[in-house]
Amino acid sequence: MDLSLNEEQTLIQQMARDFAEKEVAPQARELDQNSTWPTDLVRKLGELGLMGVAVPTEDGGAGSDNLSYSLAMEEISRACASVGVIMSVNNSLVCDPIMRFGNDDQKKRFLEPLATGKMLGCFGLTEPTSGSDASHMDTLGVEDGDHWVLNGSKNWITNGPHADVMVVFAATDRDAGTRGVTAFIVEKDTPGFNPQPADHKLGIHGAHSCTIFFEECRVPKANVLGEPGQGFKIAMSTLDGGRIGIASQALGIARAAYEKAVEYSKERKAFGGKLADLQAIQFKLADMATEIDAARLLIHRAATLKDKKTVRFTQEAAIAKLFASEMATRVTHQALQVYGGYGYSQEYDMERHYRDARITEIYEGTSEIMRIVIATHALRA
Ligand code: CAA
Repeated sequence: MDLSLNEEQTLIQQMARDFAEKEVAPQARELDQNSTWPTDLVRKLGELGLMGVAVPTEDGGAGSDNLSYSLAMEEISRACASVGVIMSVNNSLVCDPIMRFGNDDQKKRFLEPLATGKMLGCFGLTEPTSGSDASHMDTLGVEDGDHWVLNGSKNWITNGPHADVMVVFAATDRDAGTRGVTAFIVEKDTPGFNPQPADHKLGIHGAHSCTIFFEECRVPKANVLGEPGQGFKIAMSTLDGGRIGIASQALGIARAAYEKAVEYSKERKAFGGKLADLQAIQFKLADMATEIDAARLLIHRAATLKDKKTVRFTQEAAIAKLFASEMATRVTHQALQVYGGYGYSQEYDMERHYRDARITEIYEGTSEIMRIVIATHALRA
């Protein structure tokens, strides 16, 4: 098995690392502590091709592959998990379904500006009363002439307060269950599309999310993504790719915490030597390094399978996300422990990494949902 990266993948990884270290990392603490939306960084992500990494060049993207996307996500999230998730949502949850299910007109109107960073996207599946049980949505779409009229609400919408377009899912035939859900592309200026103020959260403070109300929101039929009734499968297959993005985000967060713990252990004096001389610390670092490597291999396997475009990678994506997100929680916990009291202080980045890691076990499918998906595939085999 060849685990080496090709030239293009190495170039994208290096470009993302340079940008992350020079421009993203220096701002990360301020973005977190003041809950600042990173307007300039989002614009630059677009200029660098990082808002549509796997989108073909003819549709405005970087024309690269999903492994390159994962590599870039790891680098950006290592610097700032907030910037990482903004990028992930735009790439995985908005560009990807429009690329796979959009018609030529939709690709021209939406994919090109989204992939170049001229527009920002968000994804609306979760509702106040259904997150994991995604098919039980209250948001309703009713046909009316050349339009569908949407009523309902979506919440925890990452990028919601700033997004220009939303890929949103609504029940259009209640009797048909998961086959009665339709996907729509809704533009922010559509009357009845009403984003609410940003949520207050434990972490990823720079990545704003909000509730969005749909009140008699008339969406042209030209903005139906795929076919009416195909929405649930569009959502699920989109999340397969999204989970690779979030797993890569978790990997980046864990790597940031681990690398800082290694450096700190070499500097900090204790018991007449350095922390790094103590086997108790060495064992922690060894466990972190092992888990980070294992997560990366699982993520690269899932991304490589997605790149094949002919095989279903649902289970591999769920395995990668489950392991990487729980790994990030364990690694940031241990890295903070290495830092001791300083790890708990807002004067250092460690407490931010610790808080930011937690959400990766929740969004784009909780660890419990990942286990259900994995077990379903295991039992079907
Ligand atoms: N790809 C393609 N089709 C799929 C699929 C996939 N990955 N998963 C399911 N389907 C299809 C099934 O084949 C089935 O098709 P048929 O009708 O032809 O048989 C249909 O969809 C229904 O499937 P299920 O019966 O398995 O559906 P379910 O209602 O039991 O739900 C679930 C399964 C796994 C629990 C699903 O609801 C799920 O993944 N829930 C989690 C939702 C989630 O991840 N939410 C995250 C929100 S987005 C977010 O967090 C964004 C952000 O802001 C960062």
